[in-house]
Order: sequence, then C-alpha cells, then structure tokens
Amino acid sequence: MNFSKWVLCSGLLGCSIFVVVVEGLGVNWGTMATHELPPKTVVQILQDNGIKKVKLFDADQSTMGALAGTNIEVMVAIPNDQLAAMSNYARAKQWVQRNVTRYNFNGGVNVKYVAVGNEPFLSSYNGSFLNVTLPALENVQNALNEAGLGDTVKATVPVNADVYNSPDSNPVPSAGRFRTDISDLMTQIVEFLAKNRAPLTVNIYPFLSLYDNDNFPIDYAFFDGATPVVDNGIQYTNVFDANFDTLVSALKAAGHGDMTLMVGEVGWPTDGDKNANIANAVRFYNGLMPRLAANTGTPLRPGYIEVYLFGLIDEDAKSIAPGNFERHWGIFRYDGQPKFPLDLSGQNQNKFPAAAKNVEYLPRQWCMLKPNVNDLSKLGTNINYACTFSDCTALGYGSSCNNLDVYGNASYAFNMYYQVQNQNPLSCNFEGLATVTTQNISQGTCSFIIQIADSSSAGPSSVALVLSTVLAFLPYSLLCL
Ligand SMILES: *[C@@H]1O[C@H](CO)[C@@H](O)[C@H](O)[C@H]1NC(C)=O
Ligand SMILES: *[C@@H]1O[C@H](CO)[C@@H](O)[C@H](O)[C@H]1NC(C)=O
Ligand SMILES: *[C@@H]1O[C@H](CO)[C@@H](O)[C@H](O)[C@H]1NC(C)=O
Ligand SMILES: *[C@@H]1O[C@H](CO)[C@@H](O)[C@H](O)[C@H]1NC(C)=O
Ligand SMILES: *[C@@H]1O[C@H](CO)[C@@H](O)[C@H](O)[C@H]1NC(C)=O
Repeated sequence: MNFSKWVLCSGLLGCSIFVVVVEGLGVNWGTMATHELPPKTVVQILQDNGIKKVKLFDADQSTMGALAGTNIEVMVAIPNDQLAAMSNYARAKQWVQRNVTRYNFNGGVNVKYVAVGNEPFLSSYNGSFLNVTLPALENVQNALNEAGLGDTVKATVPVNADVYNSPDSNPVPSAGRFRTDISDLMTQIVEFLAKNRAPLTVNIYPFLSLYDNDNFPIDYAFFDGATPVVDNGIQYTNVFDANFDTLVSALKAAGHGDMTLMVGEVGWPTDGDKNANIANAVRFYNGLMPRLAANTGTPLRPGYIEVYLFGLIDEDAKSIAPGNFERHWGIFRYDGQPKFPLDLSGQNQNKFPAAAKNVEYLPRQWCMLKPNVNDLSKLGTNINYACTFSDCTALGYGSSCNNLDVYGNASYAFNMYYQVQNQNPLSCNFEGLATVTTQNISQGTCSFIIQIADSSSAGPSSVALVLSTVLAFLPYSLLCL
C-alpha cells in the first residue's frame, strides 16, 4: 500500500492516523462554468482533501495565483486553438516565460507539466490540429529546456484513447496499434517525448465505451468482475485495463514499449444519460480508487500510474456535442458540494470528500411557471429560449429531472435561466408565464438549484449588490449551519 499518512496525536484524543489520499492522485480543474467558484475556494477543496496534483486546461492568472505557495503540482495547458501559434519558437518561448518561468520561484507555482493541446487528434476535429501539434510540442519543450527547466517541467500531449485501436479481426490489447491515419505522427511524437524523458498522457473513459455501444457488456465498464476477455493467457475483466494495455502494445510496436504513461482523465458522470448516475459513479470509483491505492496497474504495466480524475467540479457551460453528460463529470457539484461518497484514500470508507467552504449563494428564490396559467401555447418557445441559454441537460432521457410533467419541465427551464442570469428580475418573465417563488420547488431526484454568487462579475461598482446578496443570504446560511 502506498498511502500518504499523517499521524496526529493529542493527549485527549490519543493518536489517529489520517490516511489522506492515494499517492499520485490528481484531479482535472475545468472552468467552463457560467458561475465559477472563486479559485481560492477551489484550491481550499484540493487542500482539505489532500489532493496534491491538479491538471488545468489553460494557465489562467487567477487560477495560478490561487495555486501559488501551495506546493500543489500543476499541469498547465495550451489550448488547441493556440497550437498553431506555437509553431513559432519565439511565441512558444514567450508562452513558457509568461506561464511557467514567471511562477518558478519560492512561493510560486509548482508547475510539473505543460499539456500541449487537449485531445488534438480526436476524429471529430477532422484533422485540424494534425500539422500543428508536434511543432508546438517541440517548441514548448525546447523553450523549457532553454529556460533551464527541462529536467523538472515536461511538455506532454494529452491524447484521447481513439489515437490507437486493435483490428476488428483481432480485438485484443496485444494487437494494439496507433490509428492508421496518424501512426507516423504518433511515432514522431513518442520519439520526441522519449528523447526528453517526458510522459505521454492518455484519457480513458469506460463510460464512453458504454455510451457509444449499446451492445457493450456493462460490467466490463467497472472493476468488480466481468466475463474476462483472454489475450495470450492474460484475463481482462475491465475495459480500463484493456484500453490502457492496447496503448502499451501500440507503443511497443512503435519501439517505445517502456514510455511513461499518465492517465490525464478518468471518471464517471452523474447525470445526462441513462448510465450517468450517482450509483454507477460510486460503483466506478469504488473499483478504481483501491486499485490506485494498491498500485495495481494493468496486466502489461503493473505498478504505479499517475492518474487525474475527471473532473473536480461540474461545468454547466461545457459543449454537449458529445452528449448531455458532459456537464456532469464533477465529483463536486457546481457549488463545491460533494455529490457522493468517495474515499480518496482508496479504502472505500463510506465518506464524502470535504466540501467547499464559505460558498456564497444568490438569494434563496426560484423562478417557476405561474400555477394558474391557462394558455400554454407559448410554453414551447419559452422553454426553448431558456434552455438555449442555460443548462437543461438534467431534463433529458434517463436524467435526474426526466420524470417531471410538462409544468415541471417549464419551471425547471425557467429557473435554470433565472439562476444563470443571476436572478435578474427581468429574466423571470417569459411572456408573463413565470413568477418568482421563495418555496423550494425541487421534486424528488430533480434539484432546482440556487446559483452561487458570481465572484468574477463582482467588480468594485457592484459592492452594494454583493452586500445585499450577502445580507439576503445570511439567514439561510445560518439555518444551514
Ligand atoms: C498564458 O496563458 C494564458 C491562459 O491560457 C494565455 O491566455 C496567454 O496568452 C499566455 N501568455 C502568453 C504570453 O502566451
Ligand atoms: C468536421 O466535419 C464535420 C462533417 O463535415 C462537420 O460537421 C464538423 O463541424 C467538422 N468539425 C470541425 C471541428 O471542423
Ligand atoms: C497538413 O499538411 C499537409 C501536408 O503538408 C496538407 O496536405 C494538409 O492540408 C494540412 N492540413 C491542415 C489541416 O492544414
Ligand atoms: C420534458 O422535457 C424533456 C426534455 O426536453 C422531454 O424529453 C420530455 O418529454 C418533457 N416532458 C413532458 C411531460 O413534456
Ligand atoms: C431544495 O430541496 C432539495 C430537495 O429536498 C434539497 O436537496 C435542496 O438542498 C433544497 N435547496 C435549498 C436551497 O434549500
């Protein structure tokens, strides 16, 4: 077992061992939300849960500022749309200077990796980033090397698991190869990474294997036993291992079977699909975490693997092109409250992660369909409008609010829009169909939320507004304590 342990002793309480978190465990901190928790609040969540590694999708100053002085290991990132610019070495040097070197001081940010792009070779990108990713990787690592940081900061490319596969005729991990159309490119990337002793990063999603294929055996998505797939005498009982080892085989075929691999994203969403729910997320993490704690690894790579959970917090503004579940990957809700028991020490004690502290909410009020409305002819267009500008993914098939009637649907949509609009009174009208209520209109599994007060929009001119928000919120927060 490989735990970080803190032993706290006091005369009164005796000694107790606090098993903090699985060694090497990281989380992804995405920020595609209409209302972000203040970065300091998020960093506090990391610290209170003993999480010592975080993966970002950019290098935003406010995020970096909140991470400064914490010693949390950070992967910063260059988004795909900036890869082309990094083909210019001077530009890459500037990026490294501004977003890595600048923070490299005592009390600064402990940057360990630079992610060059994010899944740039996804088939759905139609090859847009094929020509720019390798030059960007080379320039960024060379700039890190030139800055004297090359030994401690490594550039890597987080790839989606669709960059490799095994043939339909022999669908076993040992037959894994890089996808034909990018085989040469992946080989060049891997060679450059190897030369710089940098890892390759791969995102593996058993949930997506299930989502993409109605015939996928559901037990194989989890870690608690499934009919094995046998490959050269090795029994594979879960798709995570099989997928990871398919990459190991592809690397081997490319002459780099020993390349260090990190799992950049793995996790399970809790809403937005029939298989995306709390029960399945608990089942997934209860299988994953003890394996990480025990350094089980995979059949071809037993031992420690650095893994980043996806994700930390729900993001209500993420693109739902891949599916409605995209906005529900968080182990925490939008407001930093944990959704389900998750023992980050890998011991499967039935306990919740530590929640965000001192979260400020908007006033305790909701927007709903007026109870006595007779003419419902305008309902459709108004629901549609509300859902275009807010997150209604919980209303879909198999989701937490799918059992509402047409009136509940309307209220849900109206409230989501009203909350996204920071409860602006004008945003709860909908051609006279809607009204504000102080009654909690949540129903069963369907939570009608109150948004958090938007820290990013609270400029100096809105001090009065913030104050009134705080005051309105006070009795509620006292009630909840
Ligand atoms: C640093 O990173 C930020 C956030 O990703 C980006 O907007 C900015 O352009 C980068 N700075 C430089 C000088 O490249
Ligand atoms: C990729 O091509 C498809 C079909 O031609 C198109 O619908 C889609 O918008 C394209 N995606 C990108 C990222 O260019
Ligand atoms: C990438 O480069 C190849 C070869 O130079 C070229 O044919 C292709 O159009 C380029 N692709 C993109 C998306 O720029
Ligand atoms: C509620 O809205 C969802 C999503 O738009 C839809 O699938 C469902 O049929 C609606 N239910 C009713 C009773 O209108
Ligand atoms: C509203 O009710 C739901 C379900 O009972 C509950 O989970 C939620 O915390 C309540 N919201 C507020 C703001 O009190």
